[in-house]
Amino acid sequence: MRRCSQTLEAEMTPSEQIFLQQIIQEENYSGTHLEIGTAAGGTLCKMMGCFDNQSRPKFVVVDRMTYFPNQLDIVKENLATNGLSEQGLEFRTTTSSDAFQIAVEQEDQFDFMLIDASHKILAVMADLRWTRLLNVGGIVCFHDYADKFPGVKLSIDRFLSQHKNYERVGLADTLLAIRKTAPCASPEVSIMDSAYSVMMYLPLEVQRKIGKWKKRKAA
Ligand SMILES: C[S@@+](CC[C@H](N)C(=O)[O-])C[C@H]1O[C@@H](n2cnc3c(N)ncnc32)[C@H](O)[C@@H]1O
Repeated sequence: MRRCSQTLEAEMTPSEQIFLQQIIQEENYSGTHLEIGTAAGGTLCKMMGCFDNQSRPKFVVVDRMTYFPNQLDIVKENLATNGLSEQGLEFRTTTSSDAFQIAVEQEDQFDFMLIDASHKILAVMADLRWTRLLNVGGIVCFHDYADKFPGVKLSIDRFLSQHKNYERVGLADTLLAIRKTAPCASPEVSIMDSAYSVMMYLPLEVQRKIGKWKKRKAA
């Protein structure tokens, strides 16, 4: 059982939560805010809490809701406990990939994104496609941008080296924020990027399993 399913806490450090709230409050975007991967909704509550119930922009949450039993009910309980209305909040209970196809078909656009779903390289690379739907001037945050999560780190570093239309806003612990400064001249995730993630998947999984095994042996 995930700890957050009982505590309803954000799976982020206090510094990360403060940084996230600072960005949301300072930018004060009126467009849609997106969270991909919500766990118990702890961080969602922090983000939604930056606005009052009347003036809050639309929030979309994408999650397959299988992180722990009754995940969606627990997220809703968390919102209610924090006095946050579900009005203007849309849950898309599906995988990030399926939700992305739907968002493209609907021509969705977002001012703010928090990407914090699967940290495996195949998934992170696929999640980077969402940036196509980020408005110019908008900010996307990535959680667990750290060497400990090579799937996240390698994908984002590759993305940033190829897309000069993103500038770094800041980093708090492992929460990285970048701003889109212009439309993308080339696809956000090319066939070569996807091929790179496929190629790296197995070595990273082997590395992860060896790390786990060593930890267990040392315990
Ligand atoms: C690390 S937790 C998110 C933590 C949350 N952002 C917070 O700060 O409290 C990851 C979440 O992503 C969801 N998830 C993982 N892979 C996913 C996928 N491929 N599509 C949709 N949701 C996914 C899980 O169900 C889980 O709720």
